[in-house]
Amino acid sequence: MTEKAPKLRAALDGIPTYKPGRPPAPGGPRAYKLSSNENPYPPLPGVLETATAAAGSFNRYPDMACTALLAELADRFEVPVTHLATGTGSVGVAQQLLQATAGPGDEVIYAWRSFEAYPIITQISGAASVRVPLTGGEDHDLDAMADAVTDRTRLIFVCTPNNPTGNAVRRAELERFLDRVPGDVLVVLDEAYREFVRDPGIPDGIELYRDRPNVCVLRTFSKAYGLAGLRVGFAVAHEPVAAALRKTAVPFGVSQIAQDAAVASLRSENELLKRVDALVAERGRVLRELRAQGWTVPETQANFVWLRLGDRTADFAAACEKAGVVVRPFAGEGARVTIGEAAANDLFLRTAESFRQEP
Ligand SMILES: Cc1ncc(COP(=O)(O)O)c(C=O)c1O
Repeated sequence: MTEKAPKLRAALDGIPTYKPGRPPAPGGPRAYKLSSNENPYPPLPGVLETATAAAGSFNRYPDMACTALLAELADRFEVPVTHLATGTGSVGVAQQLLQATAGPGDEVIYAWRSFEAYPIITQISGAASVRVPLTGGEDHDLDAMADAVTDRTRLIFVCTPNNPTGNAVRRAELERFLDRVPGDVLVVLDEAYREFVRDPGIPDGIELYRDRPNVCVLRTFSKAYGLAGLRVGFAVAHEPVAAALRKTAVPFGVSQIAQDAAVASLRSENELLKRVDALVAERGRVLRELRAQGWTVPETQANFVWLRLGDRTADFAAACEKAGVVVRPFAGEGARVTIGEAAANDLFLRTAESFRQEP
C-alpha cells in the first residue's frame, strides 16, 4: 500500500452535496414526508401492473433508444422524435446538457435560490456558476440574468415554476429575455412542475422552443406522473442539442421498467391529471389558509409552498417535525413544504398557525 491517493479533479473540491428531502426518522412516530415534492398518491394500478410486468425481464438491457417512450412523447407534444432525449430523471438530462455545453473557463447562469442541483452539476462540469439573486418578490430577475451574459456564457437555467419558491416566469418577460439572449447560448427551461401550472399567463416552454433553436425544455415523470423512484425525465430541443444529449447519455440509463411505466402513465393521463387537479385544489387551500394566518407566501404554481423564515427556519422545521410533518428547510432562508394528502396539509397548517402565535 502506498501513501498516495488517486488524483481527483480539482473541480470537485468544495462541491456542495445534494441534500435530499429527509424521510421521517426511522422508528419515530408516524410522520408525513412533505420534503421532496413527491406525489403523495401511490402508483395507479394499471401503471404498477405494467412496471411489474417489465420487471419480469430485468435480466435484459433496456431499449437504449427508448423507442416506444419517444414515439409516445413525440405524438403527445407534436414534436419530431429527433427533438427528444431522455435521461435518469430530468436532473440526469440537466447534467447531460452541461456535459454537452460547458467546461472549465465557461459560465452557467441561474437564479438563486433555485434548484439545488444546478450549482452541483455546474461545478462538476468545471464551469463557473453565475448566480443572479431572485427579486424581493422571489421572481427570476430576467433582466439581470440577460445582463449577466458574457462571451463565456454557455448555458442559462430558467426554473419555472421555481424550486423552492414556486412562482413561475410570465410569458412577456420570458419572451423579452429569450429575445435578448444570444443564439449561441443555450437556455434551459426547467419545467419539472409544469403540470401543476394553472395561471394562463405562464407560457408552455414547448411552445416557445418551436421557433427558438437555443431553447431546451426539461420535463419529468417524477412529479405529476408519480414516477420519482423510477428515474425518467426528458428534454425537448432542436438538433444539434438533442443529438448532443443522446451522445452524453449514460448508456442504458433509463430502465425498461421506467420506460414502460412512463408510456403507461402517458396513456393513463386522464386519471393521473385528476390527481394533479386534486393537488392543485389542495395547494389553493393551503395558500389561502397560510395567508389568512398572516404568512407572506409567493403565488406558487408548483406542488409546494415557500415560507421565507430567515433565522427561524430551523425552529420551524423542528416544530413541524415534532408535529409529524417533515419539511425541507434551507438554513437561514426558508422552508419549502410539499402539498401532500389533505391530512398532511391539515397537520402542517395547524403547526404553521401555532408557530406564528409563538413569541
Ligand atoms: C426544478 C427541478 N428540476 C428537476 C428536478 C429533478 O427531478 P427528476 O430528476 O426526478 O426528474 C427537480 C426535482 O426536485 C426539480 O425541482
